[in-house]
Parts: sequence; C-alpha cells; structure tokens
Amino acid sequence: MLEVKDLTKDYPLPEGVLHVFKGIDFEINKGDFVAIMGVSGVGKTTLLNLLGILDRPTRGKIFLEGEDVSRKSEKELAEIRNQKIGFVFQFYHLLPEFTSLENVSFPLLIKGVGREEAAKRSSDLLREVFLEEKIHIRPAQLSGGEQQRVAVARALANEPKLLLADEPTGNLDWKTGEQILQLIKDLHIRKKLTSVVVTHNEKVANFCDKVYLMEKGSLKLLSSK
Ligand SMILES: Nc1ncnc2c1ncn2[C@@H]1O[C@H](COP(=O)(O)OP(=O)(O)OP(=O)(O)O)[C@@H](O)[C@H]1O
Ligand SMILES: [Mg+2]
Repeated sequence: MLEVKDLTKDYPLPEGVLHVFKGIDFEINKGDFVAIMGVSGVGKTTLLNLLGILDRPTRGKIFLEGEDVSRKSEKELAEIRNQKIGFVFQFYHLLPEFTSLENVSFPLLIKGVGREEAAKRSSDLLREVFLEEKIHIRPAQLSGGEQQRVAVARALANEPKLLLADEPTGNLDWKTGEQILQLIKDLHIRKKLTSVVVTHNEKVANFCDKVYLMEKGSLKLLSSK
C-alpha cells in the first residue's frame, strides 16, 4: 500500500536547520493496522503528514499503491488524497457551523456527488458510527467522543483505502478513547482499510497489529502480531 524510501525531513528555521528524521525506509502492506509511537516532538505528525501527502519530504520517496507521489503537482496530490486517503485528527477539525450530516457530506459534495446521494451516504455512515440520532446536530452540541465519531465517518465518506489518524484519542478519556479505537478497528476490518495510527500511548498501540517506534530521527519495528 505504502512504500517509503530514504525519507528525510528537515525544517529550515531562522536559527538553523531542524533535522526531524533521516533516511527512513519501511513498508505498510494492504490491510495492516499500524501504530507509530514516540515521544512528543519526535516527528510523528510530520511523518503522518508526509504519508498523507499533505507535505513534501526534503529527500526520499513515497509510493502509494506503487505510484511515486513525490513528483506530482499539488492538483494531482489533492486528487489522490481525496480519492484514497481519510484523515482523523486529535481535535476532530469539524466545521462548527454545520451539522454532523453536513460535515460528513462535505468531501462527497467536493467530489461532485449530488446533494441527495451525499446525504444518503452520509447518514448511512453516521449510522455505522452509531450517531443516527445526532445527524442534524452541530459539533458544539456533541461530546468529544461523538465529535470524533463524526470525524471518523467523514474520513470514510470517500471510501478511502488508507486511513491516517493522528492521536485520535488524545483528547478523550480512556474509556471513550477505547470505544473510538474499537470503532476504527471494526471499520478497518469491515471496509478492508489500511490504517496508521500515531500515538504516544502504549494502550493505543496495543490495538494495532504492528507497532513502530520513532526515536532520534529514525523508525524501528517494535512488535508485529
Ligand atoms: N511546520 C513546521 N516548521 C518548523 N518546525 C516544525 C514544523 N512542524 C513541526 N516542526 C518541528 O518538528 C519536530 C517534530 O514535530 P511533530 O509535530 O512531527 O512531533 P510529534 O511527534 O507529532 O509531537 P506530538 O506528540 O507533540 O504531537 C518538532 O521539533 C517541531 O517543533
Ligand atoms: Mg503530533
């Protein structure tokens, strides 16, 4: 699904260059449920943003389903992201002015799906995350766990193959976080996804089949079930 070669990321800063990581090589197979662990500031979000082609590497290549995404134009990248990748973030990133249904519909409307069809698919997805009773509610009236469930439904709206989640439970108590992870795992299996979860929490990593540790600018495989 993903092949990463010699991946290197530097940030140029006024006081000099920050080398986040260097020469990372690894592969994520179709169907893998992967955790990337590491302490704060080590570069987990930076790596996930590269895997999600939201950002470009300083050096190295990323192949998504065999396709080199390093040299594509912004327009092509946006299209690939829209078609193949779903994102879940720590702070949900829902649009506050819109209902759950509208938030989930958004990526579909952008893709050109008609209004009625988008609403139907979105309400189906919201049912899959057990929010059928809250489809006409705005984020401010939802709990954190419910907002994250809307965000999971939104991430899956375009039927992506790859699901990328950055600390999806980082803002939730453990019990709620566990429910979100179980939901993501169930959807991962049911929709035959490939999923990558970034976390600093070992309990989160226990949900995953493969665990990588990011440390001092490199990545190593810690465990594989
Ligand atoms: N856009 C940017 N410009 C400059 N430096 C950045 C940028 N984004 C991140 N960094 C720096 O890169 C390093 C890695 O940041 P990153 O956000 O990837 O860490 P992280 O592992 O996700 O941390 P956390 O667990 O706190 O979210 C940090 O030192 C951070 O300050
Ligand atoms: Mg981060």
